[in-house]
Amino acid sequence: MWGLLTLTLLMLVATACGKSEDKKTSGSTSDITLGFAQVGAESGWRTANTNSVKDAAAEAGFDLKFSDAQQKQENQIKAIRTFIQQKVDVIAFSPVVESGWDTVLKEAKDAGIPVILTDRAVDSQDTSLYATFIGSDFVLEGKKAGEWLADQYKDATADVNIVELQGTTGSAPAIDRKAGFEEAIKGNSHLKIIASQTGDFTRAKGKEVMQAFLKANPKIDVLYAHNDDMALGAIQAIEAAGLKPGVDIKIISVDAVKDGMTAASEGKINFIVECNPLLGPQLMDAVRDVVAGKTIEKRIVTKEGTFTSEEAKAALPDRKY
Ligand code: AHR
Repeated sequence: MWGLLTLTLLMLVATACGKSEDKKTSGSTSDITLGFAQVGAESGWRTANTNSVKDAAAEAGFDLKFSDAQQKQENQIKAIRTFIQQKVDVIAFSPVVESGWDTVLKEAKDAGIPVILTDRAVDSQDTSLYATFIGSDFVLEGKKAGEWLADQYKDATADVNIVELQGTTGSAPAIDRKAGFEEAIKGNSHLKIIASQTGDFTRAKGKEVMQAFLKANPKIDVLYAHNDDMALGAIQAIEAAGLKPGVDIKIISVDAVKDGMTAASEGKINFIVECNPLLGPQLMDAVRDVVAGKTIEKRIVTKEGTFTSEEAKAALPDRKY
């Protein structure tokens, strides 16, 4: 009885491992199944990112299982568990928030399924829980925003009141863009963040929070928004208050999606730090390598630039997203 049970168990394990082992030894990566757990559809950036992943997976000939977490960590955890049950070859995801992933990542590791992080990082101490992290350096993005501002106000003799629209609370880009920005402006004591609140990376929330900022603060000189969508929502609030965005209130944002670049080319956003959403092709390369058993870089950083209003005007006609 026990002998039969043990044999059945051994056969099950062998079949499960066999799938990716076969791919490793045969070098065939054509029938790869990739489970991708996306954050949601909160911004123009996210839409471009989703399209990039879907297009690149189709191009690579992978079977993509796509799940939208609607900005909720519990939905992403559920999706990852489903991918594990489905015995996909690789799981990729952009974590909604940084913390709380160890248990589910261990489950994937125990099932022998490699995990690739895209766009956002996790704060797990055990880096063996994922194969690589492909995405931007969010601290650097915040620094670029702050350095531009510090330069604009290097000769300031009076206080410059800054309001900040943060991304989703607890997310890597919100934490890092805040930290990088603060680091870059700390040398100039006139640069003061007088209010800082989350706008959850959405246009609607950006507008709502900016309305509240305007009500509570009679003098706002600068808005730093962690993404274009929140800046675009805030622009609506600023205009509704009878002020000129980009002139009465200087605006800095992150992403450089088409709508943001259009606002910049019209002078409504003064400076945009680029965050590249087109991670699909790099992700598919990494998936192929992981399945083939190759060693890959633990961190793959995306290259990005910045745009003033003038530069946005020039770049807009060729902007892909
Ligand atoms: O993680 C990247 C961020 O998420 C983008 O800057 C923002 O627009 C998106 O929602």
